[in-house]
Amino acid sequence: MTEEELPTTEANSVPTVPRMEKIVGVDSGVETQALAIETGRTVSKPIKILGIAGSLRKDSYNKLLLRVASKLLPPMVQLEIFDISGIPLYNQDMEATTFPGEVKIFKRKIEAADALLIATPEYNHSYPGVLKNAIDWASRPYGQNSFDGKPTAVISASPGLFGGIAAQDQLKQVLLALNTRLVPQPAVIVSSVQQKINPDGNLLDPNTLQFLTQLITNLVNLARHFSPYEPTFIAPALKPIIADRLKREPHP
Ligand code: FNR
Repeated sequence: MTEEELPTTEANSVPTVPRMEKIVGVDSGVETQALAIETGRTVSKPIKILGIAGSLRKDSYNKLLLRVASKLLPPMVQLEIFDISGIPLYNQDMEATTFPGEVKIFKRKIEAADALLIATPEYNHSYPGVLKNAIDWASRPYGQNSFDGKPTAVISASPGLFGGIAAQDQLKQVLLALNTRLVPQPAVIVSSVQQKINPDGNLLDPNTLQFLTQLITNLVNLARHFSPYEPTFIAPALKPIIADRLKREPHP
């Protein structure tokens, strides 16, 4: 059952708590709760996307592409960008004894996110080693793969004519092995990127705008589907009613 499908059959319907409703244009928990009290409605919790760029370069186009994405978010959606430059080279010897603090933070960020948006460059027809290194760390220790079940979208940008398509294909193969839930369409492959995004992060290409907006929408929809219903922002008076409902119809 998704959060949108909280049951409201005649038998168990509670007049003050109709179906879950998205309240648009509200991104603060306090405001959301106030609105819930005022209207007597329950509300969806905000969706948190973690953005990861596969380039450490200061002026990276892929970092810029993530910043462009952050301007295209639907209401009640947040995007935080994680910088992987502090992640050390993977060494299995370190797993048991000196698991790096930066990797612990990275794993926690992935686990706390409802969805991932990964922007990758293409290096020699694949994705960069720094990104693979970060992914390998976050997949460990064995049995504690932080990517498990995570809704994930991949985008790429390159000054070249093919926009990083080979890098995307290879990255997606790895992400599938890690049991992410990949958003397959639309493909956002930004070729000749220097002509499409200016250094201030303004998108100059209508097709990229359209595809990127659609991909983010698809990612958010998938994340809402799999995100467990957490009544974080429910007015306190409604919490026992929700808890009772969930007891009768537990969320998967
Ligand atoms: C590249 N570049 C590149 N581009 C591409 O489209 N296909 C490729 O196979 C490669 N190969 C490649 C190898 C190496 C080692 C480097 C450093 C670069 C060019 C690359 O797309 C370009 O430098 C981008 O600007 C890198 O992405 P960021 O850093 O701008 O996000």
